[in-house]
Amino acid sequence: MKVLTVLGARPQFIKSCMLSKALKLNTEINEIIVHTGQHYDDNLSNVFFKQLELPKPDYFLGIGSGTHGQQTGKMLSALEKIMTSVNPDIVLVYGDTNSTLAGGLAAAKLHIPVAHVESGLRSFNKKMPEEINRLITDHLSYCLFAPSQAAIENLRREGIVKNVYLTGDIMHDAVRYFSSIALEKSTILQDLSLSKRNYYLVTIHRAENTDDPKRLKSILEALQQLKIDVVLPLHPRTKSRINHFNLTDSITSPHIKIVEPLNYFDMLTIASQAERIVTDSGGLQKEAYMLGVPCITLRDETEWIETVETGWNHLAGTNTQEIVDSVMKSQIPKKSPSIFGNGDTAQKIVNTLVNKKCDLE
Ligand code: UD1
Repeated sequence: MKVLTVLGARPQFIKSCMLSKALKLNTEINEIIVHTGQHYDDNLSNVFFKQLELPKPDYFLGIGSGTHGQQTGKMLSALEKIMTSVNPDIVLVYGDTNSTLAGGLAAAKLHIPVAHVESGLRSFNKKMPEEINRLITDHLSYCLFAPSQAAIENLRREGIVKNVYLTGDIMHDAVRYFSSIALEKSTILQDLSLSKRNYYLVTIHRAENTDDPKRLKSILEALQQLKIDVVLPLHPRTKSRINHFNLTDSITSPHIKIVEPLNYFDMLTIASQAERIVTDSGGLQKEAYMLGVPCITLRDETEWIETVETGWNHLAGTNTQEIVDSVMKSQIPKKSPSIFGNGDTAQKIVNTLVNKKCDLE
């Protein structure tokens, strides 16, 4: 079976690495990897391929940044060409980025079955580009791998019930596999002179926060008011928006440590040892839960509602006072049920592809 994987952004490298490992072990499957080039900086792309032991992509499209239309359009056209020549049995896409949408759409138009990993997530906020990407991808997918029961319910409400499989979350596989390796290899705590549970890890990269000066300012002001060290690995988009809106003064405080985007081992290490994680990232909300660190989310809604329901995640939005209060008041809940599966998601997906073939015949 020829499986063509489309990836392009940082979280997709993490999600696909465990599945690539499992696919490689199966002699019936030949995986062909296409990297769209949506993320192209070394520290957003190459470093992940090295650390995660990801196979070198068979095709690199080098699409780069642009408006949503430009970026997705260029990907569609390039992917169509590759899919026509490779003629895969199935196209595998991950998550909710523009690379996901382009991969799914190009394949569906060529009548190639699409398998969507991390299917069924909804924020119910169509202003988020990711919500549009995941909605469309789910509706054109042939085979849907859902990380949680809530995701299955979302799909059911939209009439999608065929070939939906509850697999657990693929990022959980990666966290389990790489956590101890990361702790052993990373020197990030020493490098930044941080001590365990004595700093907050903060990430901000969502367009809804970075591209709105009021929201961005309000978040940065909250960071100023926090009482212990704040580590802020800065996504290139956030960096450029802070400069553009003249907000650099809001982050020039001795307790705010601005660093370049972190590689996976440094990120896992710094996240697992943090006192609290404050983020607008979807992936980091989950990783916080998996690593047992309470999370404060800088958004008004989340796709990962189980993390909120279990008390591990609090939706603080972007109001300065609400963020500060949420960070100060958050507690470590007593229970942490295994809401993201048992770390065997990759194997479940491979078994489904091979045994059930997603009803491809
Ligand atoms: C994308 C995904 C988002 C995901 C995130 C992970 C979409 C719509 N969004 O957001 O779901 O959570 O990746 O990081 O697909 N840039 C660089 N170097 C790079 C890549 C980007 O400087 O290697 C800058 C460019 O100015 C670019 C901006 O970052 O315009 C945004 O990049 P883009 O890939 O469009 O979206 P992300 O914000 O990274």
